[in-house]
Amino acid sequence: MSFSNLLIADADGIRTITINRPDQLNALNSATIGELDQALNHAQADKAVRVLIITGSGPKAFVAGADIKEFAHFSVEEGKMLSAEGHKQLFDHVEHFEKPVIAAVNGFALGGGLELAMSCHFRVASDNARMGLPETSLGVIPGYGGTQRLARLVGKGKAMEMIFTAGMIKADEALQWGLVNHVVPQAELLTKCNELAAAIMKNSPTALASAIRAVNAGYEPGANGMQREIEEFGKCFGTPDFIEGTGAFLEKRKPVFGK
Ligand code: COA
Repeated sequence: MSFSNLLIADADGIRTITINRPDQLNALNSATIGELDQALNHAQADKAVRVLIITGSGPKAFVAGADIKEFAHFSVEEGKMLSAEGHKQLFDHVEHFEKPVIAAVNGFALGGGLELAMSCHFRVASDNARMGLPETSLGVIPGYGGTQRLARLVGKGKAMEMIFTAGMIKADEALQWGLVNHVVPQAELLTKCNELAAAIMKNSPTALASAIRAVNAGYEPGANGMQREIEEFGKCFGTPDFIEGTGAFLEKRKPVFGK
């Protein structure tokens, strides 16, 4: 598995995917989005991968947005296609990925970059991170889920303000807003993400996948989140991980999941 715009590193069940276009501040062109789609498929199929971390290369940017150079000349139809394909290949793919995905936001997360971070299951930021949805300053709106996911994460009023002003917020403000879960010095960002991943990996992969499906169902138009929770809860009782988890508790030992 080799990619032109991504670096892949594996350690103890944690796969780190680094978007690697530092000269363009890791802007998401269509080639990179296609590679991320493939990388997600590989990671889903690989049983050894238990948690994903997505980050950007270099000290400056997570992802500075969709690649403006690529879409500046697009027509209405091409614009619509760009958004629809992006949703399908990357942003919905990450959100519904059946293993936990952590965004390690190591600098600018703007436009499609913040949208990618928001598609991840949760976010950890370095103290130099800057986040915003600057699309209205370019004459467009966020088209990779930003109008929906930002409002869900921080509330409608803050989302409206951020989209209207096209401004950036700093990491500490993002923490206060609940947009990121933790802020750490840049040198400690991946260590913090790896610690969180290690804590997650102690738990049942099948239960984690059920939890992702149940939580996400609460945000899907037309889906009944509580009903989905009931179904996913019931399904857990038929998994080897449930037998192992409850058995280990009763036998006063640590469970070994994913056998
Ligand atoms: N698309 C394409 N290229 C981008 C990009 C993007 N979203 N963001 C940055 N780049 C490129 C720049 O064009 C520049 O390339 P060049 O050297 O070939 O000209 C390179 O990355 C470095 O960016 P630069 O603007 O010189 O860095 P800076 O430190 O002065 O500013 C930002 C950093 C993030 C404030 C600025 O790059 C920016 O505003 N980027 C666009 C953010 C945006 O609007 N994103 C939403 C897109 S929908």
